[in-house]
Amino acid sequence: MKDRKVFFLSGASRGIGRALADEAADRGHIVYGSSRSWTGAKPALAFHPITMDVRNDASVRAAVKEVLDEEQRIDVLVNNAGISLSGPVEETPLDAVHDLMETNYFGVVRTLQAVLPVMRRQGFGTIVNIGSAGGKIAIPFQSHYSASKFAIEGLTEALWQELHGTGLRVLLIEPGDVRTEIWDRSRHLIEEDSPYLDALVRFHKIKKRDMGDAADSPGRVAARIADLIESDTRALRHPVARLARLFILARKLLPDAIFLWAVRRAYRIDK
Ligand SMILES: NC(=O)c1ccc[n+]([C@@H]2O[C@H](COP(=O)([O-])OP(=O)(O)OC[C@H]3O[C@@H](n4cnc5c(N)ncnc54)[C@H](OP(=O)(O)O)[C@@H]3O)[C@@H](O)[C@H]2O)c1
Repeated sequence: MKDRKVFFLSGASRGIGRALADEAADRGHIVYGSSRSWTGAKPALAFHPITMDVRNDASVRAAVKEVLDEEQRIDVLVNNAGISLSGPVEETPLDAVHDLMETNYFGVVRTLQAVLPVMRRQGFGTIVNIGSAGGKIAIPFQSHYSASKFAIEGLTEALWQELHGTGLRVLLIEPGDVRTEIWDRSRHLIEEDSPYLDALVRFHKIKKRDMGDAADSPGRVAARIADLIESDTRALRHPVARLARLFILARKLLPDAIFLWAVRRAYRIDK
């Protein structure tokens, strides 16, 4: 192969991260992929399993050290680890919001702060942040998830500017719906006496459908991300997965009133 890279990838135990770790290892790259639960005896995988919780400074520092001790460099950082959360803004407990932000936003910042000095010393490196189409389009009853991904959009765009001309590259991946366990594993706030109950029930049905057969496969999305990493592109934003490009384009082109109406209709907020 042309260029064997050292990958450091958060959230490689399942879903998009697992598919990308397997895909990159298959393509001959050296991959370190993390999970919070790979402690003690590690599973036999096509890549190097490491333990990391992105909510914890010491855990992130230890994982970066482990990769550097073995490989002396990190060519590609993929900030993929993430969780979801659903419920009305009014009823979602703050501890759930904190945990989501600690994972989806501060986890990315924490990992960036641990890896950027390494890449800066090297004079090269690719940062890949996994955002979401939900970071462009706010999803009702997934407000905090969307807010975390809107934050990733802002963070990554600013980072792209800050690193311009340094030899480091920043890619923001914006997946649409991908068939993983993220939705089933999410915390869902749904109270029987909620004034939002009817709309919430309709929303859950639609979400279940969107995350099922209609969604893209993690393998296809991973192959697209691996292609981008192996390419020379320096473009910031990359919508991937079925329909993501179309929805993001519609968000850009349509006036707010029309776009917001379409989203409300898609999720049957008004019945
Ligand atoms: N699936 C979609 O439709 C979709 C769409 C757009 C964007 N995305 C984004 O794509 C990324 C991956 O999502 P997915 O659908 O593949 O989810 P997933 O199947 O639930 O996998 C999530 C991964 O994140 C890891 N993780 C969760 N909390 C962590 C923490 N505190 N520290 C370290 N790792 C943690 C999990 O590992 P452990 O639990 O083993 O630690 C797991 O490997 C996320 O950022 C998500 O927001 C997904």
